[in-house]
Amino acid sequence: MQETALTRHPNALPNDQTAPSNRSIVLVGLMGVGKTTIGRRLAHQLGLDFVDADEEIEKAAGCSIADIFERFGEYGFRDGERRVMHRLMAGARQVIATGGGAFVDAATRALILAEGLAVWLDADIDILVDRTAKRNTRPLLQTGDPREVLMRLAEARKPFYQQAHIHISSNRSPHDVTVQSILGALKDRMTIQPPVTNGNSNAPVEIPVNIAGKPYTVEIGAGLLATAGIRLRPYLKSRTVIVTDNSVAGLYLVNLDRQLKEQGVDVSHIILPAGEAAKNFTELSAILSHLVDRGIDRADAIIALGGGVVGDITGFAASILRRGCRFIQIPTTLLAQVDSSVGGKTAINLPQGKNLVGSFHQPCFVLADTAVLDTLPRRQLLAGYAEIVKYGLINDAAFFDWLEANGQAVLASNSTERTYAIEMSVRAKAAIVAKDETESSGVRELLNLGHTFGHALEAATGFSDALLHGEAVAIGIVLAFDYSCELGLCPAADAVRVRHHFKSVGLRTSLIPWLATSGEALVQYMMQDKKIRSGALPFLLAHGIGQTYLEHTVDLAHVTHFLDKALAS
Ligand SMILES: NC(=O)c1ccc[n+]([C@@H]2O[C@H](COP(=O)([O-])OP(=O)(O)OC[C@H]3O[C@@H](n4cnc5c(N)ncnc54)[C@H](O)[C@@H]3O)[C@@H](O)[C@H]2O)c1
Repeated sequence: MQETALTRHPNALPNDQTAPSNRSIVLVGLMGVGKTTIGRRLAHQLGLDFVDADEEIEKAAGCSIADIFERFGEYGFRDGERRVMHRLMAGARQVIATGGGAFVDAATRALILAEGLAVWLDADIDILVDRTAKRNTRPLLQTGDPREVLMRLAEARKPFYQQAHIHISSNRSPHDVTVQSILGALKDRMTIQPPVTNGNSNAPVEIPVNIAGKPYTVEIGAGLLATAGIRLRPYLKSRTVIVTDNSVAGLYLVNLDRQLKEQGVDVSHIILPAGEAAKNFTELSAILSHLVDRGIDRADAIIALGGGVVGDITGFAASILRRGCRFIQIPTTLLAQVDSSVGGKTAINLPQGKNLVGSFHQPCFVLADTAVLDTLPRRQLLAGYAEIVKYGLINDAAFFDWLEANGQAVLASNSTERTYAIEMSVRAKAAIVAKDETESSGVRELLNLGHTFGHALEAATGFSDALLHGEAVAIGIVLAFDYSCELGLCPAADAVRVRHHFKSVGLRTSLIPWLATSGEALVQYMMQDKKIRSGALPFLLAHGIGQTYLEHTVDLAHVTHFLDKALAS
């Protein structure tokens, strides 16, 4: 009779019942038990990637495991394994097969138990002897009689394997049966979802951001902040710092702080003044000092709770603290949810211009609760909406069509249209930044549609509340389309549609009448743009809706003339 026993270990961790569904599944157990084959099939069933930790170690070392043992001994191998496991566990959710000794190493075991779902695959020694005899390249089996070695290892490692969250005993079962057993056990655990408190029982949308070597997940949904403690726990060690601003703090800080404390995390906060002015060296220095005083190190993750300002400065602080610690984004404005929290651009401003000091540093997790947008002032909501429209105009004409029909619904409180628009925007941004993380191949630049004109307008208004970033982007996009028409690149009808849509939702589409500036002054501001290479400023122009491209040969004298005309009208 086939035997496939499934047992929950009685000594499961205290957080056992709340292990969230976004953890990687880590197969542990003795060599020969089938971790790789079963892991591959399990990953296929779950629609996840599969990774074999031993293969990753070999790739990193540039030689076989047998060679690593020979040259560096078991100690050297475990050290490499620890580093590889850290990298794998910091990545997107996947199925990971580990080497037989990985879970015996205290540091690796602690990491897997804290951040993953450990599944102990177990089988009788006879079966293991049969299986390992077929591929006897394992260094530890070269040291004596394989049966004796396996028995000794089984005995010595059992107390460690027993600590896994799930125990599956496969024996002679076909691998597919074992996979079904694991799926059943996982389902058991994953149906224990945290409560959703706003009455909307929809599961969050999970969007992977597949940036090479540093993938992460964006979770989007209404009411997610109510369960943020559980959702964030896998990314946190024993302590964290929440950076927020004084508007957001009054609304959401106490709740988040309480939840994290309930999860056993030691939390402190830094509260910045609300608004763009906080993105400066003085606030950065205060954040860094606090992080150092609190003993935050590279393994810790700090939390940005707020809009783009909080996200940008917190991300930058995380990128330079001890040459880089991890951070989590909890974006609370529409602009931050659809744009700034994803993609890893971090920055502060200088008196000479915006975002002039910064870095590319990806968050390890983004939690976007769409319900918090209900407390956002309408003007801020509209500013964020401009960035949503941008994604349709860049390369998704069908999404722009949809926005024309559903724009007002997207702006309405807690609508499914809003969640959909945020999801589409994050997917669009994730796809672009995955291709060009550091804006170096001309792909990510597409996200700057409307930003060259927009930044000049922001500069002309002193980066003040007179013109919010998203408002400037909306006017900038209209100018980019009008200018594309002027150059004969874009049908006039498309430019009219763009202008009309922004107007229809209540966004300004023309240069501000009281703005005492000139085409020349605006072009001078543009020359501060970070996209400038050897004095040439590339422009985002359009052949039509959904057909944005990067143009390197724009004549700035012509742009000056165009802007003078726009200002005069
Ligand atoms: N890193 C990037 O890729 C990127 C992309 C776009 C913009 N940005 C940056 O983002 C910044 C603009 O971000 P923003 O528009 O979110 O501005 P913001 O962070 O200043 O937030 C706007 C205002 O809304 C308040 N607020 C935030 N959440 C709230 C909520 N849920 N309820 C009530 N009030 C709330 C804030 O306190 C603030 O007063 C700019 O500095 C811009 O340069 C960065």
